[in-house]
Amino acid sequence: MSGQFQPGLENVIASETDISFLDVDHEEIVLRGYDLIKLAKSASYLDIISLLLDCHLPSEAERSTLEHNLKNEYGLPQNVISILQHLPKKTHMMDALRTGISSLSGYEEELDDRSKQANYRKSIRLLAKVPQIVANSYRAIMNLELVEPRNDLTYSGNFLYMITGQLPTEIEAKVFDQSLIVYSEHEMPNSTFAARVIASTQADIIGALTGSVASLKGTLHGGANEAVMKMLLEADSEDEVEPLILSKLLRKERIMGFGHRVYMKKPDPRAVLMKEALEPLAASKNQKSLYNMCVIGEEVMKREKGLYPNLDYYAAPVYYLLGIPIDLFTPVFLAARTVGVCAHVMEQHENNRLFRPRVQYNGPRGLQI
Ligand code: ACO
Repeated sequence: MSGQFQPGLENVIASETDISFLDVDHEEIVLRGYDLIKLAKSASYLDIISLLLDCHLPSEAERSTLEHNLKNEYGLPQNVISILQHLPKKTHMMDALRTGISSLSGYEEELDDRSKQANYRKSIRLLAKVPQIVANSYRAIMNLELVEPRNDLTYSGNFLYMITGQLPTEIEAKVFDQSLIVYSEHEMPNSTFAARVIASTQADIIGALTGSVASLKGTLHGGANEAVMKMLLEADSEDEVEPLILSKLLRKERIMGFGHRVYMKKPDPRAVLMKEALEPLAASKNQKSLYNMCVIGEEVMKREKGLYPNLDYYAAPVYYLLGIPIDLFTPVFLAARTVGVCAHVMEQHENNRLFRPRVQYNGPRGLQI
């Protein structure tokens, strides 16, 4: 048997793809040929949906057709809401999201059609409904009044509105849209890999996305953004950041929001962009000290461990200042990543080979019964 064991599949090429690539040497995240960070500065999240699912940036007419198609699919089956309302109050919001997405499958008429066209239509339906589940699962579980989507708002503006119940200001809408872009797609993280592994059995796109949610919940992955905010709130002031991080490092704890399997000792370009977005957002809300706390934490980690912040480190304070409840940080990440996962599932179904790796067996042999 050929093949060498690589713990965590580190540096193993698992798939061919036309979707995205982390070019660490040139500090570029390539998205269908474009630089993700340049896109985040000049395009909208709707453009990214088009780029990932239609494989090109949209014309103005294509963008408005896409927006129209998304809005046409807004709305959740009453039974899906009812399922959420019956979940125990202590349910984690990622588990509620996983349940909500999973329960859509019975309502999906094209569930078993894996053609590119059907997968595209299902992706649009998921992109229309996932933000509504994210925004309303907490309210449903707590039996609070739900917030309905508003067709007069942009796609991402409506998402933020459904979460906070407030109309976003211009700067809030812009920063939130940028955050969705930088979270939209990132090559082969654990959650995308999980989706491709599931899709490779010819399983459906909703099942693959459901698996992705389970993966993204973990704190070594998407769950880190919530942990970062809890750490910043624990520190509470600029003076307390350094002692808190040093005490955690002394106890050999991981500092959430730092390090990355691919970037590791290099900057994550997405974190750099979110840091740039955080500064004016914090100033606009008289919360400059939150920005300063983050910068202090970044400097301490660079000095102590040579580690750079990842996207979750700067997305966390951005979401906090946007008024997003901490429990929804990771669900928002998943909603933004839904388009990337859908693009990968489509690609997997179009050119499939079942994932079925082998093991290095270290157990005993020849035991007698
Ligand atoms: N805090 C402290 N030390 C760290 C951290 C961290 N955040 N990250 C890595 N290290 C250290 C490890 O202790 C290890 O040190 P050692 O060699 O002295 O034992 C070394 O760096 C290598 O770490 P590994 O765990 O082998 O690296 P791996 O590639 O498996 O980890 C990971 C990547 C999981 C992201 C890691 O950096 C981590 O746990 N970070 C915190 C969680 C986090 O922020 N996750 C978000 C990821 S990005 C995203 O999902 C958008």
